[in-house]
Amino acid sequence: MKRAIYPGSFDPITNGHIDIVNRARHLFEEVCIAVTHNPAKNALFHLEERINLIREVFAHDKGVTVTSFTGLLVDFATTSNIRTIIRGLRAVSDFDYEFQMALTNRHLASEIDTVFFMTDAKYSYLSSSLVRQLTRLKGDISEFVPKTIEKALKEKVNERNIRTY
Ligand code: COA
Repeated sequence: MKRAIYPGSFDPITNGHIDIVNRARHLFEEVCIAVTHNPAKNALFHLEERINLIREVFAHDKGVTVTSFTGLLVDFATTSNIRTIIRGLRAVSDFDYEFQMALTNRHLASEIDTVFFMTDAKYSYLSSSLVRQLTRLKGDISEFVPKTIEKALKEKVNERNIRTY
């Protein structure tokens, strides 16, 4: 069975990520979405919340699995017996970083390859932090995330505001 890992912090998953998963599903029988804590980022959703939200989004597709990992991505891939990492490219500006990551991962585990998918142009400027910021400022995010994520974001931001004031 052709399997691949799509790693990220997914805080939260957006239509841009979903677009990449759906494209990857044409090539891979299983896409394992692997959620991790990125220490460089201050997360809005807890890891378990992010996983549950992604599971809701892909509840209709048995070929999409969701899990979490800690430590090196290549170690997770090796223990999961998966040799392909999926990454999305939104714009040329993503390339340098992705190139560096792909080559570092190859240096760490030469048998693991990274496959890139171009996102739909309408999501080329999208990011999770943009969606989080829009939610805080009461901007319209309905084009950027599914309804379940929109609802969860609004609840989380309200909960945070209540705790702050
Ligand atoms: N559509 C919409 N948004 C997208 C997107 C797409 N197709 N692709 C990426 N993004 C957004 C993400 O939501 C994220 O937004 P944010 O910064 O506002 O949170 C941003 O673009 C960057 O995404 P990404 O590069 O995937 O960062 P990440 O934190 O989600 O994931 C890991 C990075 C987890 C894959 C990487 O840090 C990793 O592999 N960590 C494990 C440790 C390891 O092995 N390190 C060595 C790797 S060389």
